[in-house]
Amino acid sequence: MSNVDMRVTLAGMTMKNPVVVASGTFGFGREYSQFFDLSELGGICAKGLTLLPREGNPAPRIAETPMGILNSVGLQNPGVDAFIAEELPFLRQYDVKVIANISGNTPEEYGVMCEKLAGAGVDMIEVNISCPNVKAGGLAYGTRPELAAEVTEMAKSHAGSVPVMVKLSPNVTDVTEIARAVEAAGADAVSLINTIRGMRIDVNTRQPILKMNTGGLSGPAVLPVAVRMVWEVSQAVKVPVLGMGGVSKGEDAAQLMLAGASAVAVGTALFADPMAPIRVRDGLEAIAARQGLFAVRELTGAVRPW
Ligand SMILES: Cc1cc2nc3c(=O)[nH]c(=O)nc-3n(C[C@H](O)[C@H](O)[C@H](O)COP(=O)(O)O)c2cc1C
Repeated sequence: MSNVDMRVTLAGMTMKNPVVVASGTFGFGREYSQFFDLSELGGICAKGLTLLPREGNPAPRIAETPMGILNSVGLQNPGVDAFIAEELPFLRQYDVKVIANISGNTPEEYGVMCEKLAGAGVDMIEVNISCPNVKAGGLAYGTRPELAAEVTEMAKSHAGSVPVMVKLSPNVTDVTEIARAVEAAGADAVSLINTIRGMRIDVNTRQPILKMNTGGLSGPAVLPVAVRMVWEVSQAVKVPVLGMGGVSKGEDAAQLMLAGASAVAVGTALFADPMAPIRVRDGLEAIAARQGLFAVRELTGAVRPW
């Protein structure tokens, strides 16, 4: 389409373009492979894994909101062993980087999962310390710097040479505090943002729409929060940033890159249009070409703040 070099490198992992799909919004890729060749993507963050299989939370667990959705899926997944045996071989048929996303109840569980996934040969491990929809672990690790650091150290010491990216929560007062803590604990990259805690109430029944009462907000409504947090974090740490939250077109991705992201993930936009990541990639390339850039990576951190 253009001569723009679309390759980017995230913690030593080179992707053919900066567009990744966000964890929990793409399953393990099987359904979406009917819509496009998964090799078109830079990377795939697989659905969040736990040590043992999980059924997730009771329904209703998805509710629409203006410009977004609330979800309380709660990490429904087949467990890390089933992923390695059944899903990873499927993903390996494609020329795409595979990023496994993990959540644990204890730091030790994160360690065990990292060891299994590093042994299985994933390209990167995304450590989710920011899920607002599970009681144990999850968000508790992502809101306290010392716990976030402990989980990061445990993941790093069990991941061998596989890079570890820590996924940060927006549900904090100062996101840079957590980013600095995980960087100091050895994180190779950070990703943000996870969903923002929210709630909807049915005024007739006076009951919350979601069975879990609250959920996590994602989609276009959260983009400005994501841009702000990526901007803050990329100034606070030296490790690269995978930016996400509300991306549905090239311009959204370009904003996150200008704010400091080396690559971007597309999540909720997939539910309205399975081709969204391809549209984002092409839109990003068109912006880079229009601006006369040699490489898309020139956008990273190039914002000109007042
Ligand atoms: C239905 C749903 C499930 C999700 N599951 C996970 C998950 O398993 N692990 C995780 O780290 N993030 C999970 N997320 C968060 C997304 O990866 C992403 O951080 C967030 O939705 C913001 O991006 P978006 O606005 O493009 O969706 C989930 C989001 C949604 C909407």
